[in-house]
Amino acid sequence: MDRVKLTFDEWALSGRSELMEKEHTKTVLKFLKSISFKSNFSFLDVGCGNGWVVRKMAQFKNCKKAMGIDKSKNMIKNAKTKKKSSKEFYFHTDIKSWNYRGKFDYIFSMESLYYSVPMEITLEKIFRLLKPHGKFFCGTDFYRDNKATVRWSKQMKIPLDLRSKSEWKKMFDETGFETKTKQVKDPTNRKKWKREFGTLFVIGTKKS
Ligand SMILES: C[S@@+](CC[C@H](N)C(=O)[O-])C[C@H]1O[C@@H](n2cnc3c(N)ncnc32)[C@H](O)[C@@H]1O
Repeated sequence: MDRVKLTFDEWALSGRSELMEKEHTKTVLKFLKSISFKSNFSFLDVGCGNGWVVRKMAQFKNCKKAMGIDKSKNMIKNAKTKKKSSKEFYFHTDIKSWNYRGKFDYIFSMESLYYSVPMEITLEKIFRLLKPHGKFFCGTDFYRDNKATVRWSKQMKIPLDLRSKSEWKKMFDETGFETKTKQVKDPTNRKKWKREFGTLFVIGTKKS
């Protein structure tokens, strides 16, 4: 039994995919606004949930194809129902077993990578799915430095791969990325950790 699939299949039916969208929107949009996307780019969201980031990215004129994958069937059903543009594509698959031949300019993932324990195999797969000089933008609220979140694994009853900010960077470096990190905070949020730590974005550029 895959508890990740089961949990997110339930969340997709109970309205929690929209709650996640609401919870993540502020820091994700703040981060995406800081990126200058190149012309004619392709985009993949790994663990896309209800597809809200894919829908946003498909609105960019320069975005030629925006794809979302998720291992929860119900999340993908939600995403397909909300589809707004012919540039959007959604697939129900686990990133680890996804048999896709194309490559992307940008890959994005919000709060999804640490469900793979350990994360290295998934990160290597993402690396292979990028074009040379392509970028992976990986957002996580769950990291050791952000102490308020470390209990999440126990609460969810799901094994999660907890790393510190420096361990995230090391893992990206060792996969072959040129790596930068950025903490995007939300100064007006009622949650103290959102104001003080915020979402950690790990930005990996595939060197060649
Ligand atoms: C916390 S939710 C975040 C969803 C979305 N990124 C958002 O911000 O609203 C994590 C999502 O990642 C998906 N996921 C986790 N591991 C995955 C994997 N190995 N392959 C594809 N999807 C995965 C889950 O099914 C779930 O929908």
